[in-house]
Formats: sequence, C-alpha cells, structure tokens
Amino acid sequence: MRKTWNSYSNLRLLFGPGSLNEVGKVVSRLKGSRVMVIADPVIESLGILDRVKKLLSAEVAVFDEGQVEPSTNLVQQCAEQFRAFEPDVTIAIGGGSNMDLAKLTCATVASDRDPADLLGFDQVARPIGNLVCVPTTAGTGSEASHSAVICHSQNGQKAAAISHYLRPTVAIVDPELSLTCPQNLTAESGIDALSHAIEGFLSSDFSVLETTDSGVMPYEGNHPIGDLYAEKSIRLIGEHFLSAVNEPRNLDARAGMALAATLGGLAFSNCGVALVHALEYPVGNRFGCSHGAGIGIVLPEVLRFLCPAREERIAQIGRLLSVEETADAAIDAVMRLRRESGLPQSLREVGASCEDIPSLSESAVALERLMVLTARRPTLGDIEKIYKKSF
Ligand SMILES: [Fe+2]
Repeated sequence: MRKTWNSYSNLRLLFGPGSLNEVGKVVSRLKGSRVMVIADPVIESLGILDRVKKLLSAEVAVFDEGQVEPSTNLVQQCAEQFRAFEPDVTIAIGGGSNMDLAKLTCATVASDRDPADLLGFDQVARPIGNLVCVPTTAGTGSEASHSAVICHSQNGQKAAAISHYLRPTVAIVDPELSLTCPQNLTAESGIDALSHAIEGFLSSDFSVLETTDSGVMPYEGNHPIGDLYAEKSIRLIGEHFLSAVNEPRNLDARAGMALAATLGGLAFSNCGVALVHALEYPVGNRFGCSHGAGIGIVLPEVLRFLCPAREERIAQIGRLLSVEETADAAIDAVMRLRRESGLPQSLREVGASCEDIPSLSESAVALERLMVLTARRPTLGDIEKIYKKSF
C-alpha cells in the first residue's frame, strides 16, 4: 500500500480584480526581456492584447492566431515564430485553448520534438521555461494544471499531454477579464470547473494507486490538500455559478467562479479526473459538442454510479452546494445547476442516438489512465448503462 503522496502547484498565483495590471512587474521578476504573447483575434478585439503590450517594458512578439481546440499543426506554426524570436518569457491570454497552445509550444521548442510526440504522460521531460497564464474564462483550470489538450492534426482526435513540467510558472487570474465571456461559454466552462473539483474529490485514494519507478505520477489520487482545493471550489460554484451565467457583469460572481476554476485545476491536476471525463471524451470527439456540454450531460449519472463507493463524499457535495447532506440531494443540485444554466440535458440533444452507445462505451473503457482513478471501477456494461441513462 502506498504511504506517501505529493502536492503540486504553480510557483506563483496572482489573483484578484485588476491583477493583470501587475503583468509588467511579474515579467520583470522573471528577468524577462523578450516576451512572446500568445492570444487570438477575440482577445485582440477586446483590447486586452494592446493593454498587455503597454504594461510590458520588454520587447514583445505576438502570436494572435490561437483557435478553439488548437491542433498539433498550429503548435508547429507557433513554435516556428517562437524559435525565430527566442523569448525568455511566454504569456498566454485566453481560455484553455490558448493556454494549452502556449504550453505545448514551449514544450515543443524546449524538447525539440514534434508536438504529437509529447502527448501522453511525462513525454514532456524537461522544464519548458517561464510561462505566465492569464485565463479569460473560468473553467479549464489550465492556468494551474499540468495538462494540455490538443487536437491531433492527422486523425482529428483530441488528446492530452500530461507532465508536471507543463504547470505554468505564474498564473495571473483577473476576474475582470471574464466579464465579457458569453453566457453559453460561462455555463460550459463553469460546469467543467465543477466536474474538476468533484472528480478530484471523489477520485481513488492515493494509497490504492500503484506508484511509478520515478515516483512521479500523472495523478496522485485523492489526498488531503486536493480536498482543500476541491471543497472550496465546489462551495464557490454553488454560490456563484448561476449568477455568473445570468448576470454577466456581476464581478463578485465572476471572481467566485474564477477562483473556483483555478482551485478546480489544482484539485484535478493533483488528485485526478476520472469517469466523468472518460465518458465525455468520446462524446466530444464524435459529436463535436463542447467539452463542458458533454461533461454536464454525463456528470449526474456518473455520480449515481459512484454512490456505492463514495456515498459519504457525494453527500458532502450536497452540503457544499448548500442543500441537504445526502447523495440524492447532491445529484439533484448538480442537475439544477445544469438545467438553470441552459446547458444540454441529454445525449440526444447533442445528436447522439442509442446505436452509438456500444462504440462510445468501448472508447471510454479503453481510457485506462482515467479508469484507475475511478473509485468504483466500471465494466463495459456499467458504462453502457450510464450512457443509456444520460439519454
Ligand atoms: Fe475538463
């Protein structure tokens, strides 16, 4: 039985409204004189890019062609510009897509390998340099996590690179930047953040996971510091999620969700994501729905499936969401958040049909990395039943 566990986090987390104004000081502290900023046309149109350029005294190059769900080809393109400019600090501004693009660009250059070869666990095997992440949505937690999701240009499938070297050096989390985030994106990102905290909170205990030769693991399994992150994140989401969706200019709600998402990133990147994400990946890949939409659809039925192994903890989620401390109340509260935020309620709504269940289930059960983190190990038949109940 494993007796030790690790807790990982960024070197620095700078949080609060207006914290972006500190970006120049952050870069100076990192001794940066050449800064590459990775963003996209939306960030540019909002004036955030110009603002950052004005705040920096260093020489700046901009890659502003970030895309939703970036591909390995886009990483290559960005890496080419990176090599020509030779920055000593990289700043990623945007949602998970831009942050993940920046992580893999830095890793591609640092390791001098093809980005596709960096997918999987610990293929990024060396430090990737100074990376500052500035999230503009409250969801993926990429600003605090050790993973980057990318679309493989050859087969169109999404895959993740996971390595503790991918954790950004600094996260600047300024909730004011999410005030313009559209309603549907706020809902999709928010439910993803909730799933990160919940999956970290319910993941297999650290003691039951087999350690690796190096002692470094993709996920540690559930441990006490992970619980601190997860519990606070779930509580904040219960308080602020629907306000952030329905009152976009509510800074208090935006700040609550921004902190919840970062804490969710810390929770899952330590303790793990598990069955909810395993069931979402094939759905997103097949039907092209957003990650958050797919997560919201499968989350309640996965919680129901986990009850025999994790009932007490699921009941605690009820308390954290300010309802009765029972598993049923917790699951109802999650369904209410999904419904009242306008997210899809069923697989049918994203274009799936019952005939898709066997192949979706085969794809999900093959995600061994996520299965070992699931506190109640499902059979193929169990997964089929969860999908069926999510219709
Ligand atoms: Fe996620």
